[in-house]
Amino acid sequence: MTVQPSPRLERLSPVPHGSISDRELTALGLRRDEVVDFSVNANPLGPSPLAIAAAAAATWSHYPDDSATSLRHALAERDGVSQAEVVVGNGSAELLWLLALAFLDPGDAALVVGPTFGEYARCVAIAGGVTREHRTERAAGFAVHPPGLIATARAADVRVAFLCNPNNPTGTLLPVLALRDLAVALPATLLVVDEAYRQFVDVPPATDCLLALGNVVLVRSLTKDYAMPGLRLGYALAPESVRRALDAVRPPWSVNAVAQAAGQAALGDEAHLLAARREVRWARAYLTEALTRLGLHVLPAAANFLMVEVGSGERVRAALLRRGLCVRDCASFGLPAYVRIGVRTMPECERLVAALADLAGTEGVGFVGGGS
Ligand SMILES: Cc1ncc(COP(=O)(O)O)c(C=O)c1O
Repeated sequence: MTVQPSPRLERLSPVPHGSISDRELTALGLRRDEVVDFSVNANPLGPSPLAIAAAAAATWSHYPDDSATSLRHALAERDGVSQAEVVVGNGSAELLWLLALAFLDPGDAALVVGPTFGEYARCVAIAGGVTREHRTERAAGFAVHPPGLIATARAADVRVAFLCNPNNPTGTLLPVLALRDLAVALPATLLVVDEAYRQFVDVPPATDCLLALGNVVLVRSLTKDYAMPGLRLGYALAPESVRRALDAVRPPWSVNAVAQAAGQAALGDEAHLLAARREVRWARAYLTEALTRLGLHVLPAAANFLMVEVGSGERVRAALLRRGLCVRDCASFGLPAYVRIGVRTMPECERLVAALADLAGTEGVGFVGGGS
């Protein structure tokens, strides 16, 4: 007889993400550098040269600073909060898991606002909690309906509510005042606002004022805006009591020395981020217009990715991959008719538009109306 893991693991299923696996590349006979990856929503200009240099120069022959003091100081300065309100993590994904671990007991309910990032439900399940979904509707442009959300949260007595803002994959954004109203209406709920894509909103919402309410945590990624997904770095701004709870369950040294050095250098390269934000704004406008002209339904997007209705996300992804372009099939979000396209540089976006125009003509891929 083998030793069995906890039965609650039986409720877990893998969460698909963007990008392309080595196995798929091999099957297609492609090298990674031959594929332009629109399935990951990251800074299209790549990492800052300052971050690359800092990573190369970092010392990793001793343990990293477990408190990440310099990096937290830099983040607190930039975001206008106190250092006691900053906690860093091995990617923002780690912080989501730590929040579930610290605030959910087995059987507790947590709310997610779907369709959304799949890791919220997974970390709730790992903590032994139960996920309630408040699902937004296509007919309403996937807009969040705060009164409905509040009613669901109250009925289920949720301890933690995860809200992705702007939301992955729909690109919808709730304004700060609506977030404030939610937090005030649900005083016994920890409202986790995942702001992984905040830096790509034209005017990033001034959510830091929500920390004063005491039941709001802002989770931010540094892997998207600074293009360092392989280094893993994220942080949360949280009331001090919440930060202490996260520190209590955090594994030691989870943010390695190279990530700390590169993150701090990246924060010092404001010009690189501004250039990326400009490129995204410009290329997003181009993509929206060009894809609409092809007859595709493009959802209005607040961030650096677009959700586009193409008939069959799976077929369109496969057909584009054969042309060296990778988009995210949205089937795992329960949206099989859509793909999600991360905005890249203008020349790369032009290549994608040309490929989609070609597909519409040659492969009979079912766009809107002809959905297959
Ligand atoms: C909404 C959202 N939150 C968090 C993450 C995790 O990002 P990271 O752990 O790289 O910071 C992702 C990654 O795709 C995401 O889409």
